[in-house]
Amino acid sequence: MKLTSIFTILTAAVLSTAAGPPAKTPKIPGISYLYTVNITAGETYPVGNGPHGLRLVVPITGGTFAGPKLRGTVMPVGGEWGTLDTGHANGSFYPDVRQTFKTDDGAYIQIFESGASQTDGSAHVSLKFDTGSEKYYWLNRAVGFGILNRLTDTSLTIDAFIVNPPA
Ligand SMILES: *[C@@H]1O[C@H](CO)[C@@H](O)[C@H](O)[C@H]1NC(C)=O
Ligand SMILES: *[C@@H]1O[C@H](CO)[C@@H](O)[C@H](O)[C@H]1NC(C)=O
Repeated sequence: MKLTSIFTILTAAVLSTAAGPPAKTPKIPGISYLYTVNITAGETYPVGNGPHGLRLVVPITGGTFAGPKLRGTVMPVGGEWGTLDTGHANGSFYPDVRQTFKTDDGAYIQIFESGASQTDGSAHVSLKFDTGSEKYYWLNRAVGFGILNRLTDTSLTIDAFIVNPPA
């Protein structure tokens, strides 16, 4: 048998398995509302057009957050190091935010978030949490996502959610 015909048979076999519908739709995970945070920001520092696009640095000056299981204040540390894709018409903005929360019962929670702006003007971000607090230790395992909306040049709000295991 010629090599090309073996290749044709193998390709057909792969395509026939890949093209079929999955035997069973997997369970779809649920989501829970975690908090809404209002962030106040400082002056924007335009780092400029570099290899990753137009980088804008914005310091976080404070804010408040509240949700069913946690509430408190945003520490005046951290900021945004986002980039704007200037290489494409309608290029997105890619936020890259670090913020530190202090809960009303005294715990600190570090949050990392990054994502992309959407056509409706919001941005969708993934959230990672880091804390040593026993009470909030479950956040280290959580996979979160947020909807970020810039309200003014110096304020933004993020609605945060976490993924629940499929029931
Ligand atoms: C965020 O701001 C909105 C609009 O001013 C307000 O209704 C809401 O209570 C604020 N939430 C927090 C956690 O500060
Ligand atoms: C940019 O977005 C606008 C509005 O959605 C659309 O009309 C236009 O065709 C887009 N341009 C390109 C190059 O994708």
